This record gives sequence, C-alpha cells and structure tokens, in this order.
Amino acid sequence: MTEMNNGPETLKGEDWAGEMGAKWLANLACFEGMIAPIGEALLRQADFKPGERVLDIGCGGGGTTIAIAKAVAPSGEVVGIDISPDLTTASLRRAKDAGVTNIGFICADGATVQLEDAPFDRLFSRFGSMFFPEPHKAFANLHSLLRPGARIDLAVWGPPRDNLGFMQ
Ligand SMILES: C[S@@+](CC[C@H](N)C(=O)[O-])C[C@H]1O[C@@H](n2cnc3c(N)ncnc32)[C@H](O)[C@@H]1O
Repeated sequence: MTEMNNGPETLKGEDWAGEMGAKWLANLACFEGMIAPIGEALLRQADFKPGERVLDIGCGGGGTTIAIAKAVAPSGEVVGIDISPDLTTASLRRAKDAGVTNIGFICADGATVQLEDAPFDRLFSRFGSMFFPEPHKAFANLHSLLRPGARIDLAVWGPPRDNLGFMQ
C-alpha cells in the first residue's frame, strides 16, 4: 500500500451546518449553474420513474430534489436531507413557490438521520455525500434507510487536495 502525503483527504473544520451552508445559499444560482451539467447527467442516468420514493442526500438548495419530485410524480415522493438549516428552509420555500407538493426537506446529518417512513427505493446525491468524517458508518446508516436492492446514484468529486477552492 502506498501512503500519500501531499494533502489531507478530509476537510478540517468544514461547517456545512453553519458558515459553508450559508455561503452555498448566498451563491446558490452560481454554484448550481456550475454543476448543472453534472446534475443533468446524473438525473438522466438515474432515470427516476413515477411512484418511486427517493432520498436526496446533502440536497443543498433543493434543485435536484425538485427535479426528482417532478420525475416521480404523482404517486412517488422525495425527501431532501441536508445538515444546513438555512438550506432546508430555503429549499422548502423554493418547492412551495414551484408548486411541488410530493416533496419534503429534513435538516439532519445524513450520517445519523433516522426516518420513520423508511425504507426508500432510491438514494441520490449530487456532490452531497463526500463530507462524512466517518464514511463507512454514514453509508451504513444510509443503507439502513433503503429497501433491499435499492439503487444508489451519486456524483462525487475527487479528494480535497484536488479541489483547491475547498481547501481555502
Ligand atoms: C456541494 S453542496 C451540494 C448541494 C446539492 N446536492 C446540489 O447539488 O446542489 C454539499 C451539500 O451537502 C450538505 N452536507 C454536508 N455534510 C452533510 C451531512 N453530514 N449530512 C447532510 N448533508 C450534508 C451541505 O450542507 C451542502 O448542502
């Protein structure tokens, strides 16, 4: 095994529940615009069907969550989970403004969240699943929220040392 020493693999002191969540919200149109092509490709790949029940982890400002809600309507539903209260509040308002009703948002840590209406059929995330300090435990928890055979579609970026914007 080769040990690499050219940078940390996890971000230190990131505060998505506070400062970083607020920053993401303040620049939402810009950030969502930058990653829109990834979202379109991931949604195309996910190919959601009406009736499916979906979790959108680290849902941010809810752009993908709303797109999923439309794809699984009328009988399906989607729950967006995010650790930032600023973002879940804004997402709820955005969904209401868009007239989307088969959608919910929960402010919680995806690593530990428990959901009474589990299990879900699908797990989705555009760049919202890379921030768990203990990824194995977090994904074990997410797995426990899914039905057997549930499908997972994730977009993730590379390690922090390759993403200088997030190292500042
Ligand atoms: C890069 S943003 C992506 C947002 C959204 N998925 C999108 O594509 O627009 C990462 C998101 O993950 C959320 N997040 C980070 N750690 C989290 C955790 N432990 N549980 C839930 N959400 C988390 C952040 O608050 C943020 O909204």
